[in-house]
Amino acid sequence: MHHISRDTLRGVLLTRRPRGLLLRVGALSLLVLGSLLIGIFQPLAVTHAASYCQVTYSVPNQWPGGFTGNIVVQNTSSSAWTSWKLTFSFPSSSQVVSQGWNGNFTQSGQNVTVTNMDYNANVATNGTANPGFNASWSGSNPAPTSFAVNGNPCNGSSSNPTPTPVPPTPTPGTTPTPVPPTPTPGTTPTPVPPTPTPTGTPTPPGTHVDNPYAGAKGYINPDWANEVTTAANTKGGTLGTQMAKVANNSTAVWLDRIAAVTGGTGVTRTLSGHLDAALQQASTSSQPIVITLVIYDLPDRDCAAYASNGELSVANNGLAIYESQYIDPIASTLSQSKYSNLRIATVIEPDSLPNLVTNLSVPKCAEANSSGAYVKGIQYALNKLHAISNVYNYIDIAHSGWLGWSSNFQPAVDLISNTIKGTTAGVNSVDGFISDTANYTPTHEPYMTANQQVGGNPVRSASFYQWNQYIDEATYDTDMRNAFIAAGFPSSIGMLIDTSRNGWGGSSRPSGTSSSTDLNTFVNASKIDQRYDRGNWCNQPAGIGTRPTASPAPGFDAYVWIKPPGESDGTSDKTQTSPDGEGKQFDAMCDPNGTSRYNSAVPTGALPNAPDAGHWFESEFEILVQNAYPTF
Ligand code: BGC
Repeated sequence: MHHISRDTLRGVLLTRRPRGLLLRVGALSLLVLGSLLIGIFQPLAVTHAASYCQVTYSVPNQWPGGFTGNIVVQNTSSSAWTSWKLTFSFPSSSQVVSQGWNGNFTQSGQNVTVTNMDYNANVATNGTANPGFNASWSGSNPAPTSFAVNGNPCNGSSSNPTPTPVPPTPTPGTTPTPVPPTPTPGTTPTPVPPTPTPTGTPTPPGTHVDNPYAGAKGYINPDWANEVTTAANTKGGTLGTQMAKVANNSTAVWLDRIAAVTGGTGVTRTLSGHLDAALQQASTSSQPIVITLVIYDLPDRDCAAYASNGELSVANNGLAIYESQYIDPIASTLSQSKYSNLRIATVIEPDSLPNLVTNLSVPKCAEANSSGAYVKGIQYALNKLHAISNVYNYIDIAHSGWLGWSSNFQPAVDLISNTIKGTTAGVNSVDGFISDTANYTPTHEPYMTANQQVGGNPVRSASFYQWNQYIDEATYDTDMRNAFIAAGFPSSIGMLIDTSRNGWGGSSRPSGTSSSTDLNTFVNASKIDQRYDRGNWCNQPAGIGTRPTASPAPGFDAYVWIKPPGESDGTSDKTQTSPDGEGKQFDAMCDPNGTSRYNSAVPTGALPNAPDAGHWFESEFEILVQNAYPTF
C-alpha cells in the first residue's frame, strides 16, 4: 500500500521548534482511566453573550476521574483578532488539564490560560476558535463560570448545570466484555467496574447501531485465510502453528479495482461473493457479522507514490468512471435486501485526502486537488453508501507520523470536515475515522510519552520524532476525534485503528524505559517502533499487533485489521517502471537497497523479493508473525 508520512520532509521543515501543548503528561493514563467509562455525560453549555467574546463550554465526555472539555470562543467584537488569550478558572482544585489541542494550555492553581496556535491566531468577527482539552476531576466537575479573552470579559451570567449522566446503552442480546485496564508502568491498576446488565428490547437485525463492531463477529475472508493456512502448513513446526492461528482473524476486503466488485481476470471472489460468504458465516453465528470493505479506486490514486496507482486517471475521465462503474455497482450490491442483516463497514479511500494536505507539490496530487476528483469522488461515495442503513462509513486520517505535526493536523481536520460537510447528510454521513492503514504507528509507545523531558529536551524533539506532536496512535486518534467533534461532528463518532502491522514484538522489542540521559539514545532504546524512520511504509519487518477488538477504549469503535497481514505494499522489482495490468509499479520506497525518499540519511528498510502491492508475500508474512505482539 501507499501509506506514508509522505510529508515527513515538510513536517520536519515546519516543525523543528518546540511549540504547542504544554500540558500533555498523563494522556496515556487518561486513556486507561477512560477505559473505565461508566457513562457519557451530555454536553452542558454555558453561553455568555458579550460584545467582545462569547464562550460556550461543554463536556462531551466524562468518566471516573477524567473528562474532555470543548470550548467555542467566538469573536463578537467588530474587529478581527490577530491573536487571542482565553482565561478562566476551574471551580474545583481537582480539575487539572492534562492535555489540550487547538491552543496552548497552561494552568496555575485553578486558573487556566489558553493562547492561540499559529494556525488559529486570526479570528474574524463572528468567527470562532475551538480549543479543547482533557482534564482530571474528583468529587464534582462544575463548569467554569466566567471567561475572558485578551482581558475582556465575555459577559453574561453563567448557569452552572449539573451534567446528567446518561447510562451506557448496552446492545441487547450481547454480553459486553469488560476491558481490563492496561497497567501503566509505575501506576496501580484501578479495579474494573461491574459489567452493566443489558436490558431492553433487542435491536432488530439491520438497524443502524452506534458501533457496528460491538457485539458482532468479524467476517473471515476465506481466500486470505486460505493463503495463511496454506503457508502455515508448508512451514510446519512452531512457526507454522503460530501462522495458522492468524487465519482466525477478520481482515478487510479491498475493492481495489472495478473487477474486484463485478468480476474479472485474477479476481477470486466478487463483492457479492464475499457478501454471500458473510451470510454463510452469519448462518452459524449467534452474533451479526460485520464485514469491512475498503473503497479504493479513486482516479489518480496514491498520487504521491507509485506502488498502488490504480486503474483510473483524472485525465481519462476517471471521476465519471469511478462514480458509474465502481461506486454505483457497489451501492446497488450492498443495498440488496438479502444483505440487510449484515453490518457493512467501509474504509473510504486510504491515502487520498491526506495527500491533498501535504503533497500538493507532487503534480498528480495537484491534479487530484484542482480537478476536485478526490473530494467529489469521496462525496459521491458517501452519498451513495450512507443511504444504505446497514452501511457504516469511516474516513481515512492516515497516521500520526504523517498528519501529527500541528502544521498538518488542523488543516487535515478542516479539509476532511469540509469534504464530509459537502455531502447530502453532512456530518451524519460518516460513523467515524480510521488511522494506521496509510502507514502506521504503534497504538501505544508504552515506555515514554511525547513530552517527557530527557536531558532537558522533550521526547518528541528526538531525531526519530522530529518534533511531531504524537508518538503513539491512541493519543493522535483521541485528539483527532475531539477536533472533529469541535468541528461539528456528533460525539457518536468512533475511531478505528488498523493494528494489523503495528505490534512490534520480537527480539528487538525493549522491555522497559531506557535509563540514558542522552535523548536520542533514550528514544532509540525505549521505542517499540523498530523502523529506521516513521516515513518507511513499504514492506517493513514489522509485527502483527492487537487482534481485532471491539470498543477497546472510550471513543474507539474497534481495532481492526485492514491491511491483510502477508499482502505486499509494493513490488521491489526495479525494472517495473510502468504501470502493469493493475496499475502498479516500482516505488523507490520498496527498494531494499535504497534510502528513504523522505529522509536520505536512512535506508528504506523494505524487505527484498516483494511482489506487486496486494499480492501474497510469504516471507513478509512469516516475519510479521515472528514479530507479532501479542504473540500467537
Ligand atoms: C494494494 C491493493 C491491495 C491492498 C491490500 C494495497 O496496497 O494496492 O491492491 O488490495 O494493498 O493488500
